[in-house]
Amino acid sequence: MRECIYGIDAMVPLLSGRTVRYVNLDNAASTPPMKSVVRAISELAPYYSSVHRGTGFKSRLCTDAYDQAHEIIGEFVGADLRSNTVIFVKNATEAINKLSHRFVAPEGSFVVTTRMEHHSNDLPWRDHFDTLHVRIEPDGRLDEEHYDSILRDHAGRIALVAVTGASNVTGFILPIHRLAEKAHAAGARIMVDAAQLAPHRKIDMKPDDAPDHIDYLAIAGHKMYAPYGTGALIGPKEGFLDGAPDYCGGGTVHVVTPDEVYWAGMPDRDEAGSPNVMGAVAMAAAAKTLMEEGMDSVAEHERELTEYALRKLAGMGDILIYGETDPARASEKVGVIPFNLRGTDHALLAAVAGFECGVGVRNGCFCAHPYVVELLHLKDSEISSWREQFLRGDKTRMPGMVRMSLGCYSNREDVDRLLEAINIIRDRDYIGDYHQIPETGEFFPRGYTDDYSGYWMYPDGV
Ligand code: ALA
Repeated sequence: MRECIYGIDAMVPLLSGRTVRYVNLDNAASTPPMKSVVRAISELAPYYSSVHRGTGFKSRLCTDAYDQAHEIIGEFVGADLRSNTVIFVKNATEAINKLSHRFVAPEGSFVVTTRMEHHSNDLPWRDHFDTLHVRIEPDGRLDEEHYDSILRDHAGRIALVAVTGASNVTGFILPIHRLAEKAHAAGARIMVDAAQLAPHRKIDMKPDDAPDHIDYLAIAGHKMYAPYGTGALIGPKEGFLDGAPDYCGGGTVHVVTPDEVYWAGMPDRDEAGSPNVMGAVAMAAAAKTLMEEGMDSVAEHERELTEYALRKLAGMGDILIYGETDPARASEKVGVIPFNLRGTDHALLAAVAGFECGVGVRNGCFCAHPYVVELLHLKDSEISSWREQFLRGDKTRMPGMVRMSLGCYSNREDVDRLLEAINIIRDRDYIGDYHQIPETGEFFPRGYTDDYSGYWMYPDGV
């Protein structure tokens, strides 16, 4: 799908003064825009106007584009929009926070989440509810027996299960429909954080009365080739029709009197203020392209490439891979591979890959600190000395990993470029004199500053 992606051949400067084709292996953080996405928003731009508020032609057209975006996203995730609603928000974090504000749980009940969550699917629940966390296996897989025992021990008192669809650290794909069936049997609803799953696998929320139906789903445009500030929360309309929205104001009401408010129906009630029409259109355009290309062929391409990357990495020696290491089991995860090079700080590896090889990866704990700490099997003494150190404001030598994450357009050459970078670092063949910033833990080559002028600047004048 390389031809579908914007900026695939972008050249970037290296510390050496050369320029090379940029390789983005940080798709789990954010994906580049699809060409169809850029085309959709630039073709809409001349007609951009207010939505749900104006009678002019441009307003009518934008309203239609925005309303259609809800339907396309509903189709993308297999939601029955007669009873469910698509609420556009900023990103998956906002989607989950919204649900944590809007979900009504009986007194004395729990929200069950897991130890493998991104902070965005953990902290909002901790903030509003009593939570129980499902443990993980030593390799980072969900401990489903522990999940079963939590459901059994607290049956009738679990309001919601909130799980990731695929881990942003190990890429493990959770059996969301099996977990859903078990959650429903225990009287709970289920919410899937599908930010990492949606760009890689077909999602089907299934009919409302299916035992393995997904009740709520959160997705993010910037992780599915539409980085224009939109995500979505999908869930049952009736779940939102009780009570006030978390943000109130323009667009959320039918009628307001000096003393009373009559809230609008869904999704308007939960999309306060002027909506991000361009973002919604972008996200829908990406969803359309992914559906047209076929999620099964996306998944097969990524499985083959993940298998290749796992095999090559394991063959290098000195590499510690976390999560699934067996190339034959690549289909059990999305293309996210966390690793360390023995004897090298993860932040140094990521810096050299970026500054000297033109390869973008992320390092650290990936907004999933509890999960990464468990995957690293740190001793309690190491965890407490690390905690004392960062509380003193020193983030040097922090625990973490380097993460390679693939997109639908990634290819073997991209993977090979990272492998070359690892070899350069292992052989101490890099040219920069790197120093680490204690406040952030990042490494920078001394005496080098980026010059962005030939790449991008705010345009002058009109
Ligand atoms: N959640 C994103 C990541 O894993 C930002 O990098």
